[in-house]
Order: sequence, then structure tokens, then C-alpha cells
Amino acid sequence: MEKRITVRDLAKMKAEGRKITTVTSYDAITARLVDEAGIQLILVGDSAGNTVLGYENTIPVTLEESLMLTAAVRRGAKHAMVIGDMPFMSYQVSEEEAVRNAGRYLKEAGADGVKLEGGRSMLKTIRRIVDASIPVFGHVGLLPQSVLKDGGYRIHGRNEEAQQIIDDALAVQEAGAFAVVLEGVPRDLAKEITEKLTIPTIGIGAGPFCDGQIQVVTDILGLGTFVPRHAKVFTNLAQYTADALKQYREEVEAQTFPAEANTAK
Ligand code: KIV
Repeated sequence: MEKRITVRDLAKMKAEGRKITTVTSYDAITARLVDEAGIQLILVGDSAGNTVLGYENTIPVTLEESLMLTAAVRRGAKHAMVIGDMPFMSYQVSEEEAVRNAGRYLKEAGADGVKLEGGRSMLKTIRRIVDASIPVFGHVGLLPQSVLKDGGYRIHGRNEEAQQIIDDALAVQEAGAFAVVLEGVPRDLAKEITEKLTIPTIGIGAGPFCDGQIQVVTDILGLGTFVPRHAKVFTNLAQYTADALKQYREEVEAQTFPAEANTAK
């Protein structure tokens, strides 16, 4: 059996100064390709909401939807660590509910851990989940589940807000998380946090000094409807797919497909 990446491997990578690559996935086909590319960590992000599920943002994603996507990713990924992203209202109501829901990712979806958003306000919740032996991936800075409260998406941690983000990251570490996402924070702040923390920092829109990077898979494969500033489009899958589908339709209409080779005798 192929060896699975663990929290200890990630800690070792930070200690050795090796960068950690992380990407989101929402299905078994993509997860298999991510695995084959040697990427260490897959987040089944609640970004599924505004990518594959077609919602406006991450708020409507349900626990059942997230568990179903996480189970599919697990079936595709044999080597990468798979983390389920707990959706809005699956961990905020009470610590008990958070532990119970986090446990479902391990028991029902085969995940290796869970991610949740929030720093100091989530310290006790993270601690309770970790105490139940469930690895937790923290997330501070820009928190997409707080988009309505914040009135939109913006960089967090400029000027006097910087200390709050540092305190949030330290709280997540103190609570026992194995790593933390730094989203949408200035790069010098991300560098300072990365140097302060003993756990790996995984950045998105946080510059090059984090211990690793995370990107939304549809953004980097050219499948998104717009490209966020922090993303780079490594290929244009939307164009390749559209061209292939058009050719398929044209060949059906021209009766050149199916050909002899595609036909049962
Ligand atoms: O849901 C998600 O994809 C995320 C990453 C952007 C960190 O939370």
C-alpha cells in the first residue's frame, strides 16, 4: 500500500525548509491527477460552493454536500493527505456539535482531518476537536464564511489589524492545529507569522514566504469565471473542453462519429 502523507511529514517539511503544495479538489478524477502530480495536501474546500456547486459564495454549502465531495476525493487520492473543509454553521453553534461533525469527515468520508475558519474565537472549538484525535487545519486572515459580516472580500491585517491576525494564528497553534491557512494577508505579515509559528503556514494571497501555498484548483486550471489576483492560470482547461465538446457535436451532426472503430460488431 502506498504511504499516505501525514501531519508529521508536513511538520518535517517545515523543519527542513521544503515548501508544501496544497490544492483544492472536489471529485475523484481531479484528486487522482493531483496525487499523481506529487502534491502533498488536498483540501476539499467549501469553495466547492462557488466553483463546482454553482452557488454565489461558500455560505450555502451543507455538511452533507461537503461529506459527499470529501468521500469522492478520498477515493481518488491514495497518497495525498485529504482535509474536509467544515461548512458554515457546522462548527459555530457548539463545541459538541463541532466535534460530532468533524468526526463524520473521518468516519464517513475517510478524510485525514478537517479545516475550519477562525482564530482566537475558535480556540476552544479547535482544542476540543483535536482532543478527540481529529487533526485540525486552521484558517485565519480573510475568512470567506464571514463575507456577509465583513461586507466583502478584502486584505486583512494591514496596520493595526496586523496584531489581531498574529494573535489568531498563535491561538490556532496553541489549540493544537497541525497547520494554518493564511488567506489574504500582506506578505510581510505572513512572513512574520511564518517565522513565529512552529506549525506550517499555507498561504493564499499571502505572498511567497509561507511554508506552503494553496490554490483553488479551478482557478489554476483555467476553469473559473474570473481569475483572482493571487492565482495563476497554468492551463486553459475551459477552452480545451469547449473546443472538444464543439468538435464532438459537429462530428455527431456530420455522422463522422461514431466511426467503424467506435462501433460494436
Ligand atoms: O475553501 C477553500 O478553498 C479554502 C481555501 C481557499 C483556503 O478555504
